[in-house]
Amino acid sequence: MKPHPLSCALDSASASPAQLLAASARSAAHPSALVGDTPVLWVGEPFTPAGRGFWAKLEGHNPGGIKDRTAPYMVAAAREREALPPGARIVESTSGTLGLGLALAGITYGHPVSLVTDPGMEAQVAGLLRAYGVDVHTVTTPHPEGGWQQARRERVAELLARHPDAWCPDQYHNPDNVAAYRPLAHELVAQLGRIDTLVVSVGTGGHSAGTGRVLRAFFPTLRVVGVDTCASTIFGQPAGTRLMRGLGSSIYPRNVAYDMFDEVHWVAAPEAVWAARTLARTRYATGGWSVGAVALVARWIARTSPAEQRIAAVFPDGPHRYVSTVFDDDYCRAHQLLGHEPPDDPDEIADPAQAVVTRWTRCRTVTRPRPHPGKGDLSLAGAAR
Ligand SMILES: Cc1ncc(COP(=O)(O)O)c(C=O)c1O
Repeated sequence: MKPHPLSCALDSASASPAQLLAASARSAAHPSALVGDTPVLWVGEPFTPAGRGFWAKLEGHNPGGIKDRTAPYMVAAAREREALPPGARIVESTSGTLGLGLALAGITYGHPVSLVTDPGMEAQVAGLLRAYGVDVHTVTTPHPEGGWQQARRERVAELLARHPDAWCPDQYHNPDNVAAYRPLAHELVAQLGRIDTLVVSVGTGGHSAGTGRVLRAFFPTLRVVGVDTCASTIFGQPAGTRLMRGLGSSIYPRNVAYDMFDEVHWVAAPEAVWAARTLARTRYATGGWSVGAVALVARWIARTSPAEQRIAAVFPDGPHRYVSTVFDDDYCRAHQLLGHEPPDDPDEIADPAQAVVTRWTRCRTVTRPRPHPGKGDLSLAGAAR
């Protein structure tokens, strides 16, 4: 498929008001109606070699980001099941994007929202969440085994105990967090017609499972490529300190569709920063950690696949919340993130247990890891009420 030429669909001198209205941006009576129908953008030369490229699904065009799709969906489903009584509090652990979606859901359905985060949340996002009326709690010390994520989940349990009517979406294990992404898959089918490869980041596993499974039903030979961060447990690596947010985990989310992935790539923070900054310079459309990591992998797949392969890559959000991290020179220098142009090809391991990876690495064996006793499946019993 060729990229669309730069063109204006209507001649504004001769178009009627009705035509202009039909061609203009959507109008909505409520912000939740602005979720979805995000555009796809062709990412080609010079980010990719001549004659190669991929389609980026720009989820940053949602009011908050990709989680605007799942937060209101999970809330509506919980209300329907009467797990969330009218006006009751929503309590969740989030590194940011789901928080924005839950703020939207809270305003849409009339629920107060409490979010638990950690010091890694950008001050701008915490400030924005407060502006949206959210009660933001920040944990100050990581759990000795489950890291920041488990520390956040334990605070969620405390808040749930304090508010007997409250409900936690439990995005890591809630199947509605997968079902919410069916429209994303349908949009891709409508926009691209045929898809040979899907490149998706994995955090809770929600958008990869929800989009990939539906697309596989349309295209049975679809290749699904998961993108994770180094030091994430999801695909069987040991937990470690992670700078990258959004993708990756220090627990084992039940929503990850292990049987669906053909391969996984782990990406390190300097490599994601290189890709996000190179995308910004060459293609304008960019994002943060997960967009950088996904773009790096999609670029490699485009280079190493036949030219006629049609590749879709999901960009979960836009660049704005990363101005103080990925796009801040002082931050990047302090974390030694600059000047690391990734290699042409990833390292390759045959099995996730073969090595602890610290830079871009690919593995074509994808299986559900067995949580280590005492570590890992630190799911919050009873949280998803
Ligand atoms: C920016 C960003 N990218 C990627 C992900 C991973 O998406 P998922 O949780 O659907 O696996 C998240 C999840 O929070 C995110 O916020």
